[in-house]
Amino acid sequence: MIIRPITWKAEGVVLIDQKALPGELRYVTCTHPDEILRAIENLTVRGAPAIGIAAALGIALGMVQVKDEHPGRFRHIFTLLCDKFSKTRPTAVNLSWAIKRMKRCFEENEYRSDCEHLKVCLKKEALTILEEDVLINRRIGKIGSCLISDNISILTHCNAGALATGGYGTALGVIRAAREEGKRMHVFACETRPVLQGARLTAWELFSEGIPATVITDNMAGFIMKQGKIDLVIVGADRIASNGDTANKIGTYTLAVLAKEHAIPFYVAAPLSTVDIGIDSGEDIPIEERNTDEVLAFQGIRTTPCGVGAYNPAFDVTPHQYITGIITESGIVYNPSKENVSALFEGTTK
Ligand code: MRU
Repeated sequence: MIIRPITWKAEGVVLIDQKALPGELRYVTCTHPDEILRAIENLTVRGAPAIGIAAALGIALGMVQVKDEHPGRFRHIFTLLCDKFSKTRPTAVNLSWAIKRMKRCFEENEYRSDCEHLKVCLKKEALTILEEDVLINRRIGKIGSCLISDNISILTHCNAGALATGGYGTALGVIRAAREEGKRMHVFACETRPVLQGARLTAWELFSEGIPATVITDNMAGFIMKQGKIDLVIVGADRIASNGDTANKIGTYTLAVLAKEHAIPFYVAAPLSTVDIGIDSGEDIPIEERNTDEVLAFQGIRTTPCGVGAYNPAFDVTPHQYITGIITESGIVYNPSKENVSALFEGTTK
C-alpha cells in the first residue's frame, strides 16, 4: 500500500489526518497556510521529515495566494510566513532545514524574476523537498536492510514510517525494504504514550503491509528483551547533534539503555536533513513540552485525579554511546561520534 501523507492538489494541500487513524483514513484539505500551521501543532501531520515538508508546502501555498505584487511587501509576507512556521514545533530540525531551503530558493530567484515567477519557484522547491524525501527514504531502506537478517524480531518506537515522512519511512522504510527483499520478520511496536503513535500509526502501517506486528505498552520493553524476544531495535530521529546524540520520541532513551544492557543492537534511521551539525551535543537540542492534558487524560477521558499536575516532554535525547549505528542515505555511521558524523557531509552542502 502506498501511503502519501502530504500531497499538493488543485484545491490545496491535502493531509492524511493522523489523529483519526487507525479508526478512519480521513483526508483534510488545507486551503490556507494557517490550517497547515495548526495541523503541525495539533499532530494532524507529524514526524520530523513530514513536518518540514508540510511547512514548505504551507509556505508555498501562502505565497501562491498573495495578490500584492510589490517586491518589498511580497518579501515581507514571505518572511512573516517563514517565521510563523518555524515556531510550530521546536525539536525536529527538519522544520528549520526545510524553511532554510525555501528561503534560499526565494533569495536565489528574487532579483531575477517577478513575483509570479517567484511563486512558481517556491511551489517547485516545496514539491522537490517532498519528492526527494521519498527517494531518500528508499535509499535509507536499501542501505539499512542489510542489517535485517531473515526471521528477525525487531522493536521500534513511535512512528517513523510513511506517515512521518513524504512516504515510505525511515525506520519503517528499512523494515519495508527488507520485506521487499523477501525477508521475514516480526515487529514489536511500543505503543508510545501519551499520543500512541506506535499503537495507532505504526501498527496500522505494518498491518497494511502484511508485516506481522505486536503492540506492547512502553513499560514492557525491558521484560521482552530479557525474554530474548528482540534481536534489533530501530527508531527514527527528530534531531541528531554533530556528535551523534539523538533526540527522538520520549521513551527512546529508555529503550537504548535497555538494549545496551541486553546486548541488542540499537539503530537510528534518519535522513541527513535530521542532522544538525550546528550543535555540539544533545544538550543543545530544544525539547518540546506539550500540553499536560495529553498525559492527564486518555482520548478525552480524565485518568488522573483533578488537581494533580503532569510533565509532558515530547522527546528525549539518547547519548551517542548507546547507538550502534545511524543509517542515512549516505551510509551507516557506526559508533557515532563527532568525527564520523561529520564525515557524512564531506562533499555535500548542508
Ligand atoms: O511527536 P511526533 O509524532 O512528531 O514525533 C515523531 C517522532 O519522534 C519520530 O520518531 C521521528 O520524528 C522520526 S520520523 C521519521
